[in-house]
Amino acid sequence: MAENPAAGAATPALSVRRLRKTYDNRVEALKGVSLDVAPGDFFALLGPNGAGKSTLIGIVSSLVNKTDGDVEVFGVDLSRRRDAAMRLIGLVPQELNFNMFEKPRDILVNYAGFYGVPRAEALVRAEEELKRAQLWEKADMMSRTLSGGMKRRLMIARAMMTRPRLLILDEPTAGVDIEIRRGMWKTLKEINAAGTTIILTTHYLEEAESLCRNLAIIDRGRIVEQGPMKALLAKLDVEGFLLDIDGHLPQALPTIEGTTLVAADDHTLDVEMPRAMDLNRVFAALGEAGIRVRSMRTKSNRLEELFVRLTGENAEDSTAQPPPEQVA
Ligand SMILES: Nc1ncnc2c1ncn2[C@@H]1O[C@H](COP(=O)(O)OP(=O)(O)OP(=O)(O)O)[C@@H](O)[C@H]1O
Ligand SMILES: [Mg+2]
Repeated sequence: MAENPAAGAATPALSVRRLRKTYDNRVEALKGVSLDVAPGDFFALLGPNGAGKSTLIGIVSSLVNKTDGDVEVFGVDLSRRRDAAMRLIGLVPQELNFNMFEKPRDILVNYAGFYGVPRAEALVRAEEELKRAQLWEKADMMSRTLSGGMKRRLMIARAMMTRPRLLILDEPTAGVDIEIRRGMWKTLKEINAAGTTIILTTHYLEEAESLCRNLAIIDRGRIVEQGPMKALLAKLDVEGFLLDIDGHLPQALPTIEGTTLVAADDHTLDVEMPRAMDLNRVFAALGEAGIRVRSMRTKSNRLEELFVRLTGENAEDSTAQPPPEQVA
C-alpha cells in the first residue's frame, strides 16, 4: 500500500497509519487500519455492527486510547499535540450526550466556552448554528422536549460551535425518519461546501451515496475496501427486489436469463438482477408464467449485500478472531 500520496499533495485532513486497538477484554477492534482523508472531502466510513467504526472515531477524537499506530489531523500528530489536534475537530458522537435539562442556546454557548470561545462571540455563533439547524425557535426550550431529529441536529450545531476544520459524525441519522434525514443531509452538504471536511459513519448506503465522494468499508477491524464512491458503486452491479405476488407462487419458478429467482415465502419472490436490466422484461416473463406482481420493494440493505460479497472474499480472515460475543 502506498504510504504517502503524491509528494506535494495537500496535507490530509486525517491520516491514519497502522492503527490498532485491543480493548481490555482482548477484543481486537482495529487490526492495523490505514487511511487518508483529503481536505475538503466528504468521506464515509461504512461497516456492519461491531466493525470498529466508533473505535476509530473515538481514537481520532481522543476519547479512546489507541494500542498502536499513528494519527495526524491536518498534519498535527495526535499523540504529541493532542490539544492542538482536538481543536481542529468537531465530534458528533453516536449517542446523545447533552444535558436534557439545558436549553439548546446554553448547550451551544457553554460548549464553545469550554473551548475558549468568548461569550459574546459564542452567542453570535449559537444564533447562526441554531438557525442552520432549524432550531432557532427552540433556542430557549428545555432540550428534553425536542424531537429525536431535533436532538440529532442540536448535536451537529454544537459540534460546529468551535468552527472545526474536520467534522466527524458517528451515525448522525440513526433512528431518524427519511424526511428529517434528508434535511440533515442538506445541512451537512452546506457545511462541507463551506470548506469543512466531513467524515461520517453510517449503515445506510443511500446516505453515503448521496453525500460522500470517498469511502472506506471496515469489517472486523480491517479496511476491506477504500476509494471513490463511484468506483465502489460500480461493483454493486446487482440489485435485489422483493416482489409481492397475487395468490401463491407456483412450485416451479420460471427461468429468466440473467436473474436469480428465489421464493422468499409462498407469495414473495426474491429477485436479483443486473442493475442495468429492464424490469419490464422480468415482469413480462413472470406474467407469462402466470405470476402477477402486486407490489415490489427494494431488497433490504444493499450495503449488507456488499459486505457479504467483500468480506466473503476475505473469508480466511473470519477464523482469525472469534466473534466478539464469544469473548468473555
Ligand atoms: N469499551 C469497550 N470495551 C470492550 N470492547 C469494546 C468496547 N467498545 C467497543 N468494543 C468492541 O470493539 C468492537 C468494535 O466496536 P465499535 O463500537 O468500534 O464498532 P462499530 O463499527 O462502531 O459498531 P456499530 O455499528 O454497532 O456502532 C466490537 O467487537 C465491540 O464489542
Ligand atoms: Mg459505532
